Amino acid sequence: MNPTAPATRSVTVIGSTGLIGSQLVQHLGAAAHRIVEVSQSTRADVFTGEGLDDALAGADVVIDVVNSATPDDSAEGFFRQTSANLSAAAATAGVGHYVVLSIVGADLLAPVAGYMRGKLAQEVAAATSGVPWTVLRSTQFHELTESITESLVVDDVVRVPDASIQTIASAELVEILAGIAVGDPLDAIHEVGGPQRMSFADMAHTVLAHQHRDLRVVEDPAVGYFGLPIEATTLVPDDTAQRGATPLADWLARS
Ligand SMILES: NC(=O)c1ccc[n+]([C@@H]2O[C@H](COP(=O)([O-])OP(=O)(O)OC[C@H]3O[C@@H](n4cnc5c(N)ncnc54)[C@H](OP(=O)(O)O)[C@@H]3O)[C@@H](O)[C@H]2O)c1
Repeated sequence: MNPTAPATRSVTVIGSTGLIGSQLVQHLGAAAHRIVEVSQSTRADVFTGEGLDDALAGADVVIDVVNSATPDDSAEGFFRQTSANLSAAAATAGVGHYVVLSIVGADLLAPVAGYMRGKLAQEVAAATSGVPWTVLRSTQFHELTESITESLVVDDVVRVPDASIQTIASAELVEILAGIAVGDPLDAIHEVGGPQRMSFADMAHTVLAHQHRDLRVVEDPAVGYFGLPIEATTLVPDDTAQRGATPLADWLARS
């Protein structure tokens, strides 16, 4: 037996069929951890609570990567309810580590966005559950950069916020999240981001070059992030954040 090999853990993944959840299941399964998958189509409904106690029985770790089907203000109620159900079930089951995936800047955007208030409620639910916990706040994923850029096109001009963004490949976020989840609880918020802090204008130029499109990119302080007002550094992590390795241009070239 290799004494340095991490112990096999029983891990319940909430939101197991999503972009992040499905990769987590694959990654942790490949490392020989025992996985219980939770989504409405597989095992339990974390919003109603149906099937949740059963899905958490015997779990060493629970990872909450559930998402609301709607990104608008109604997401606040969804995250409040799902995390209230989950924190109660995790405490009852005696789970050893409760991990939540949140978003860099959730605290700064909470006053203006119900979705972000929901993410903060999800963080607080873990931190006050009585279960050892870790919150990982991530930046946006490389996978979203084409849709973010498209959302900023108006009359063949890309109008971008005068702000920075630091996207990460979701596969690299999953690797970091999985490592944290099977490690010791931090009882703290930890941040992760991509390798490059870019202006929104640079991100748009990178996406447009990949798409072989020749559109003008204009910085406009009146433009927000999906309608939310942002400051220059709202969406970027602090300097101590863990970082992914693959720059956006390289990731787009391989996608
Ligand atoms: N997008 C970003 O830039 C970003 C950045 C940082 C963090 N995050 C966070 O990353 C997390 C994961 O995002 P994602 O893109 O992987 O989400 P996603 O692809 O939309 O997946 C959501 C998952 O939640 C499940 N789900 C929804 N309602 C449920 C319910 N009532 N009961 C059980 N399962 C339910 C879905 O399965 P069913 O519908 O089958 O139930 C699915 O498995 C989110 O919390 C998001 O806030 C996102």
